[in-house]
Amino acid sequence: MPRQSDTTATPSERASSAAGDRRTTGPAAKNPKPRYRPLADPDARIYVGDCRDLLATAPDLFEGGDPANPGAVDLIFADPPFNWARDYDRHRAGDAWIDKLADEEYLDFTKRWLDGCVRALKPNGSFWINIPDTWAAEIVVHLKGDRDADRNPRERLHMVNWCVWHYRFGQNTMNRFINSKVHVLYFAKDRENRTWNVDEILELSDRATTYFDPRTMNKKVGRSGLRVPMDVWYGKYLGRVQGNNKERRANHDNQIPEAYMERVIRACSNEGDLVLDPFLGSGTTGVVARELDRRFVGFEYAESNAKSAWERIKDGPVRVRKDQPLVHASAIFAPRGASPTARKATEAE
Ligand SMILES: C[S@@+](CC[C@H](N)C(=O)[O-])C[C@H]1O[C@@H](n2cnc3c(N)ncnc32)[C@H](O)[C@@H]1O
Repeated sequence: MPRQSDTTATPSERASSAAGDRRTTGPAAKNPKPRYRPLADPDARIYVGDCRDLLATAPDLFEGGDPANPGAVDLIFADPPFNWARDYDRHRAGDAWIDKLADEEYLDFTKRWLDGCVRALKPNGSFWINIPDTWAAEIVVHLKGDRDADRNPRERLHMVNWCVWHYRFGQNTMNRFINSKVHVLYFAKDRENRTWNVDEILELSDRATTYFDPRTMNKKVGRSGLRVPMDVWYGKYLGRVQGNNKERRANHDNQIPEAYMERVIRACSNEGDLVLDPFLGSGTTGVVARELDRRFVGFEYAESNAKSAWERIKDGPVRVRKDQPLVHASAIFAPRGASPTARKATEAE
């Protein structure tokens, strides 16, 4: 009987077998094919199935497509199911991932896809994970070394940043503090030798936007008025995608904002690099990667989500602009004192 993870099963077979043993994956197709005609220039392709299988078999993840040579991916971004009993098939096509595994099953699932991602990463690659409080600690411990005592050094990972994505409008509750963050974990195989395009992600500093401090305009290191973003991410373009947000895609309520993906992709990859998202959802990673001229591979369990993501990647709309990096401002206080322009005007009077 096909299992939830059997990539060769039809969506309805997978759904009907979902109550079966999810702890082991089904027989993985040896040479899986992208479900939709891959897009060209830059290449973008989507596979439908369980990422645990696809991470071991999709030819794109191996140098020259050779299973003996894993590690062809420059950047991986993973926003997995949180095991919060979410409905991952709003299209009602019946092929949703069952998002309520027993804790130990979920943890086993998590370790399997994490290890698959590490294997798929190039020696100078970067690995980002979007994960809530419930599982962040377990993931960090696993990736920082609790994987295999005598593992291959090629599979070692180092944490570069533990960022937090702060959003407003968390689910209302009266008996504990309201959740308003997700952890954004940034790992690299080689901390010293990794892609880091800092100039492409600078943001306006508080000194520039709030205090009009002349020192920031005469900086010796870095660019005038700009700084590297802090590790807590929030702001105008970084809120949750909901309500009448222009990016919102029907039948997906887990979308990552494009501005978030722009930051990750610009910082940690170059044009022509290969970006992988093992949990594609509505396709945000793919649509931004393509606009920024990166090659892209996405995995998605639900056929209906994969189709919707493919349409989005193919046809847009996309807010990110390749030639115009979004410059954020994250100051929270109103400007204090007069701006240099206002000061000059007063002095001239
Ligand atoms: C949190 S959503 C990703 C949202 C995405 N980042 C976006 O911006 O739209 C997780 C997605 O992973 C898919 N998924 C769950 N388990 C999976 C698995 N084992 N393999 C591949 N995809 C899976 C779900 O169907 C869902 O679409």
